[in-house]
Formats: sequence, structure tokens, C-alpha cells
Amino acid sequence: MTIHRTRRALVTGAAKGIGRAVATHFAREGYDLVLFDVAEDALEAVAQDLASDSTRVVTVIGSVASAADCARAAKAAQDAFGGLDVLSHNAGIQRYGTLETTDEALWDEVFSVNLKGAYLISRAVIDMIVEARGSIVHMASVQGFASQEGVLAYSAAKHGLVGLVRASAIDCAAKGVRVNGVAPGSVDTPMLRATVAGAPDPEALWREIGAMHPLGRPARAEEIASVVAFLASDAASFVSGEVLRVDGAMLARIGGSPEKGAKE
Ligand SMILES: NC(=O)c1ccc[n+]([C@@H]2O[C@H](COP(=O)([O-])OP(=O)(O)OC[C@H]3O[C@@H](n4cnc5c(N)ncnc54)[C@H](O)[C@@H]3O)[C@@H](O)[C@H]2O)c1
Repeated sequence: MTIHRTRRALVTGAAKGIGRAVATHFAREGYDLVLFDVAEDALEAVAQDLASDSTRVVTVIGSVASAADCARAAKAAQDAFGGLDVLSHNAGIQRYGTLETTDEALWDEVFSVNLKGAYLISRAVIDMIVEARGSIVHMASVQGFASQEGVLAYSAAKHGLVGLVRASAIDCAAKGVRVNGVAPGSVDTPMLRATVAGAPDPEALWREIGAMHPLGRPARAEEIASVVAFLASDAASFVSGEVLRVDGAMLARIGGSPEKGAKE
């Protein structure tokens, strides 16, 4: 007889956007959850929303850029649930700058959250994930494979995150642990909305963002969360070291339309 015990996940960046959508998806699947974020009020609201008879929820307020905060999150999982099956790491920040305008403080800020944070939270929970033969899913970006203008530190950190996924997948494989990533194009979240609101012509930028994706629109956060849930599940039991693009065919496209050009 197979005994199915409740799966347990730690979700970073769970207060908003993609992390919140992942937590919501996991709650629907009956996971127990540790929700970790810097945004206290928003996180408590998500926790209240998701806690139910089938989902126990614990919150940890802190930054993934702090080893001590990551250790607190790991201890919360151990104390509340006796371990962890899944780490879904989504916490991230967007900052803008070119090589000429990115100062050292901005570079360090972006790297401390978007890359070092991924390392710190993975390190804090890896013993529990190994014990459960579980899996890790990092939130990368299409900017881990290519870059727009003016996102030097963000793009460099996301490229680094793709490397972290591959290297840790190799290192953890012998212990039965899978490590993967998801690389979204644009996703309709508070992060994207803040970028659009700050543009000189927000409506024009929104249209441009839609047009960047052959599917004609940004993703909804739930469309990213469902892929995270797949990668975390046994349905993906032979998927590891992968960073799955979920970008509405954005990176599949190169410019030009030769057939149309030939007819004209
Ligand atoms: N929205 C997009 O278009 C998009 C596209 C590709 C990749 N991503 C990536 O997806 C992830 C989530 O982005 P989002 O759009 O949901 O952003 P968001 O700003 O809407 O949500 C991010 C969450 O992370 C939390 N957070 C920020 N810094 C933190 C820290 N140091 N420690 C703990 N929590 C922290 C925030 O409080 C927030 O709740 C990020 O890694 C981002 O780079 C987003």
C-alpha cells in the first residue's frame, strides 16, 4: 500500500505576483506551505487567504539576501512540517541601468537578491530537500538567455541563475534531487505593472509588451505557476537541469518575414 503524505513547499516572493500564484496553486493541490517574503502585510493577507483544512500555512518575514533570514525560513519548515519536499524560489527585483549607468550599489543590490538569494535559500533548505528526495524550481527569465537594453545587472544575474540551476542539478542528482528553472517572458504582476506605470506612455508600452510575444500578450501569473507546479511534481520525475521557457514563443522568433517580403 502506498501512503501519500502531504507535500511541503517553501515559496519565496510569495506575497505578490508569480510567487503568490505558485503558493495559490500549491494550496489547491493540498500542500503545506512556508511563505517567505519581505512584504509583511501582503504576505499575511496571502497566508490568511490560503490557509484551510487541507493546507497549513506558516509565514516568515525576511529577505532571501540574508543568510540568517533564510536559515529562519528553513527552521520554520522543519519546526512546522518536519521538512520540505519543494523549494519554489521566486523572490526577485527589477532595476534598470546600462553599463554606463549601473553603479556598484545597484549591481550589488540586484545580485544580492536575484542570484545570491537563490544560492542562500537553496543552501538553507538543501538538507531537507535531500532527505525528501525533493526538488527545487528557480524563477529565471528570458533575460537569462538574451537581454533587452538597459537591464545589465538584472540580465547578468538571471544568466547566473541559469548556471546555478544547471550546476546544482548536477551536484544534487546522485541524491535524487531535481533542480529546474522557469524562464518567463513578460508576466502581468505588480513588478511589470510598476515598470509600465513608470513609462512616459504606459499604454504604448503595454501594447509593445504584448507585441513582443508572438502569442500577443504577457502571461498571467497562473500560467507560470502551473509550470512550476509541473516541474515540482512527479510528472516531471526525469526533468532536471532544465530552464523551461514560458514566453509565448518570444525567444523562438527571429526578425523578418521572408515569405511576405517575397510576395510584396
Ligand atoms: N513579471 C515579469 O514580467 C517577470 C518576467 C520574468 C521573470 N520574472 C521573475 O519572476 C520573479 C517574481 O517576479 P514578479 O513579477 O512576481 O515580481 P513582484 O514584484 O510582483 O513580486 C516579487 C515578490 O518578491 C518579494 N521580494 C522582493 N525582494 C525580496 C527579498 N529580498 N526577499 C524576499 N522576498 C522579496 C516582493 O516583496 C514580492 O512579493 C522574479 O524573480 C522576477 O525576476 C518576472
